[in-house]
Amino acid sequence: MASPRDISRSSLSEPASHSLSASPAATFTSPPASHGSFLAGSLAQRTATAAAKQLKPFNTGDIKILLLENVNQTGRDILTSQGYQVEFLKTSLPEDELIEKIKDVHVIGIRSKTKLTAKVLQEAKNLLVIGCFCIGTNQVDLEYAAQHGIAVFNSPFANSRSVAELVIAEIISLARQLGDRSLEMHRGTWNKVSAKCWEVRGKTLGIVGYGHIGSQLSVLAEAMGMSVVYYDVLTLMAIGSARQVPTLEKLLEEADFVTLHVPETPETKNLISTEQFAQMKNGSYLINASRGTVVDIPALIKAMRAGKIAGAALDVYPNEPAANGDYFLNNLNTWAEDLRGLSNIILTPHIGGSTEEAQRAIGVEVAEALVRYINQGITLASVNLPEVTMRSLTLDESNHARVIYIHRNVPGVLRKVNEILAEHNVDKQISDSKGDIAYLMADVSDVKTEDIKEIRDSLDSLSSRIMTRVLY
Ligand SMILES: NC(=O)c1ccc[n+]([C@@H]2O[C@H](COP(=O)([O-])OP(=O)(O)OC[C@H]3O[C@@H](n4cnc5c(N)ncnc54)[C@H](O)[C@@H]3O)[C@@H](O)[C@H]2O)c1
Repeated sequence: MASPRDISRSSLSEPASHSLSASPAATFTSPPASHGSFLAGSLAQRTATAAAKQLKPFNTGDIKILLLENVNQTGRDILTSQGYQVEFLKTSLPEDELIEKIKDVHVIGIRSKTKLTAKVLQEAKNLLVIGCFCIGTNQVDLEYAAQHGIAVFNSPFANSRSVAELVIAEIISLARQLGDRSLEMHRGTWNKVSAKCWEVRGKTLGIVGYGHIGSQLSVLAEAMGMSVVYYDVLTLMAIGSARQVPTLEKLLEEADFVTLHVPETPETKNLISTEQFAQMKNGSYLINASRGTVVDIPALIKAMRAGKIAGAALDVYPNEPAANGDYFLNNLNTWAEDLRGLSNIILTPHIGGSTEEAQRAIGVEVAEALVRYINQGITLASVNLPEVTMRSLTLDESNHARVIYIHRNVPGVLRKVNEILAEHNVDKQISDSKGDIAYLMADVSDVKTEDIKEIRDSLDSLSSRIMTRVLY
């Protein structure tokens, strides 16, 4: 990973202080080597050719980070090893305490329980970036954050393998009716049966949605001797001997096991309903660990009662409780008790991605994204800002500064920015926009501290400005 650089932030809500936060006493220490993730690996490769520039003394302790909700140790280690001031709490905070705490932090790391609403974020005058150490970002007002130049990162795919492994377990469990046999034994009943219990070898798995999870599952299923067919709205290269089929109907006709791995969209709502159950093989199985809206559950109940579907595994539901407890009842989903009464149905509480490995991977991925953003301004994988990256400054590039200008995407801005930067030597520059927000990065050479201040003052004075940062 490339070297951290000093940070200065000015925003609409904060008078520019022009303190460039260089601590005369501090000594720069290189950040640790890669933490082993594929992201770290690829970044390391990219930067290996040019040694990172020796920075002017500065103090990364200036960056204050608040981590809530027991963020995984992997993420905490990466952030503390950068020298940032990291405060770690095991729980989320009530809104009033959150507002108090968020006032002076530059970075906040949360999971799914902390709600970062506009009301909370408007108090966060120094906030540069939010790390969601989880899959979803619904808990953050992404639009408000973007409008105020606050980047948001998450980790959407770190748990793909965990989901794929759960599905493999479910395929065998359904084929052997393991859930029912286990329940019977727990009740004291010995019921040794082989009728309608099958090996999975030689059976056909139909994967709907061949993305991160679907494609991993394809490899695992073939290793167990299954044939794999898949259907996806995109034409995707098959892994191993898997075969793409042109329509969902074709997949449903061929598959002994149908497993769903599509996103929640208007097109995937009730993707599997009465008509699709009719197209499935008699005695086939359905697995849904994608999103609860993808299966029409009353139609599934009918198909199972009729014996058309021999078993099902559901990990996700249209309505899911916010906390653990005895909530899987009819008042949450009107059909809950009918579902619970069926045989050979595995019901799990949205645990597909819930493993220690997935939590660790999420910790690494999000913390590394935060470090890249804080130290270099790289927005790759941000969910709410344009994705912009630029190679790191090197040892040969002394007295360079990286200028970051987050601004409204209105006509004429680039001309004005270029007029300001034209007085200096711009080595490289890149800019991109997303909706009405644009993100510009420029590396400027042969600059003195006074120049940095002048550049920042000039950019701050433009009416399009959302946030200016200078890393040097
Ligand atoms: N159960 C869990 O704990 C858990 C954990 C992680 C992800 N998920 C869910 O699993 C699903 C898949 O996740 P992923 O990471 O593999 O997503 P992904 O984006 O990598 O793959 C989704 C695939 O579905 C395809 N697709 C989209 N619409 C389609 C349609 N109408 N018909 C057929 N294919 C379609 C896309 O082209 C893509 O290839 C998502 O809904 C995600 O929310 C659940």
